[in-house]
Amino acid sequence: MLNCVDFNVEKYLYLKYYFARIIFQALKCLIKNQFMKITIIGSGYVGLVSAICLAKIGHDVISVDNDKEKIDNLNQGIIPIFEPSLTELLLEVKSLQKIIFTTNLKQAIAECDAIFIAVGTPQGQDGSADLTSIFEVVKQIAINSQKPQIVITKSTVPAGTGAKIEKLFAEIAPNTEFSVVSNPEFLREGFAINDFMYPERIVIGSESLEAKKVLQEIYQYFGDDKLIFTDIITAELSKYACNSFLATKIAFVNQIADLCEVFNGDIKKLTQIMGLDSRIGDKFLSPGPGFGGSCFPKDIKAISNFAKQADVDLSIINTVITANQGRIKKITKKILEIIQQNSIKNCKIAFMGLAFKANTDDIRYSPAIAIIEELLKNDRTIKVNACDIQANKNAEVYFGDNNNVKIFTDPYIAISDSNIIIIATEWNEYKKLDFTKIRNITNKLIVFDLRNILDPIKIREMGFQYYGVGIS
Ligand code: UDX
Repeated sequence: MLNCVDFNVEKYLYLKYYFARIIFQALKCLIKNQFMKITIIGSGYVGLVSAICLAKIGHDVISVDNDKEKIDNLNQGIIPIFEPSLTELLLEVKSLQKIIFTTNLKQAIAECDAIFIAVGTPQGQDGSADLTSIFEVVKQIAINSQKPQIVITKSTVPAGTGAKIEKLFAEIAPNTEFSVVSNPEFLREGFAINDFMYPERIVIGSESLEAKKVLQEIYQYFGDDKLIFTDIITAELSKYACNSFLATKIAFVNQIADLCEVFNGDIKKLTQIMGLDSRIGDKFLSPGPGFGGSCFPKDIKAISNFAKQADVDLSIINTVITANQGRIKKITKKILEIIQQNSIKNCKIAFMGLAFKANTDDIRYSPAIAIIEELLKNDRTIKVNACDIQANKNAEVYFGDNNNVKIFTDPYIAISDSNIIIIATEWNEYKKLDFTKIRNITNKLIVFDLRNILDPIKIREMGFQYYGVGIS
């Protein structure tokens, strides 16, 4: 009896201790979270989304950029890019005073617990990643740091950059301790918030135990099971490996689509069959005008470049680069053939979409833009009426006073005096185009659907000539 009472008391004391520990850990997290101050240098796509989302999960964030106009706008809640829900989220974290935007790098460095570098690594002339901005920021951190710092690279950088950063710190500020971390970002434009807030994995590459602990605290909101700890080189390479693999998948499916066209196969059914094999997966199997955007084209050139320098054979990636460049020429050739077969003189082409993909205003390396330029280069009589849901402003700046390209907001007006309709970006709005209305406003009935978003049977039944990708 006595034993039983003893046992219960022991159990009670143990449970009390156990719950007290949980509450203590939770409070510790909460307190730490409240006071974790993070500086993010670079308010571009990755930097801005990361800053806003880190503020959303509770950190106090300072977002730094040297573009004063951008910073002034951000302080007023104006975002320079189109990204679904980002403005709303910015206003929310601003109202909670969780984020500030500044050009004052020195102050931002002095006040934080960790520094993220998210500046651009654009493509250099030889295809390599241009790391000028990265090293400039590193120099500034080294010069302005009066205490040990944890410096995290979010920008996509070639293998070995982390070591170069460490060397630069040691040279400029030998008496200050810097822990360098590689934490590549995998978010997609158009889905950036979702990708950040619901990550499939968070890669943390560092040799420093202390730095790893800080990163674990920064990302504790997402759960430890999402964190993958590794060395800096593997983390740096992982971003390139993922992007190259996805680009390869697209280049592959584009060539299989060519095969379908010649043999009268159906790429939609074929990719369905492929995708149901769990070893292959059903993502990134949509054929089209080739991949574009600010990442894939630049990153695969960069990986190819640093592999070549290291004398490593990346012939697969080199073929993907060539195949994707060839895609623009191939599609342009097909459009020119359609014009010729239909004996169209002074052809006017309506482009539905200018962004490199849907849900973004980004026209960097956009296949639509590249095809327009290739068409105009090949046939000086061609005129283009183009429209996009979000990218018109960027396209207007890009085409400037080019009289051969007119930008429209209303797709039906763009289509009304055109001979051919090209679906270049897979916007939902273009999936829902009213072809009965189109039939009533024009008797020019050719559609080339570069994204396979329309129903060929329906469109053909309405009397249009329909061309898709990998569909006969
Ligand atoms: C990509 C990566 O997905 C992301 O992880 C990384 O952080 C940045 O680069 P993003 O450039 O935003 O993201 O676009 P993504 O959705 O990956 O598309 C890239 C290109 O591939 C687009 O031009 C798109 O149209 C094309 N694509 C994609 C296809 O042609 N077919 C597909 O099946 C998928």
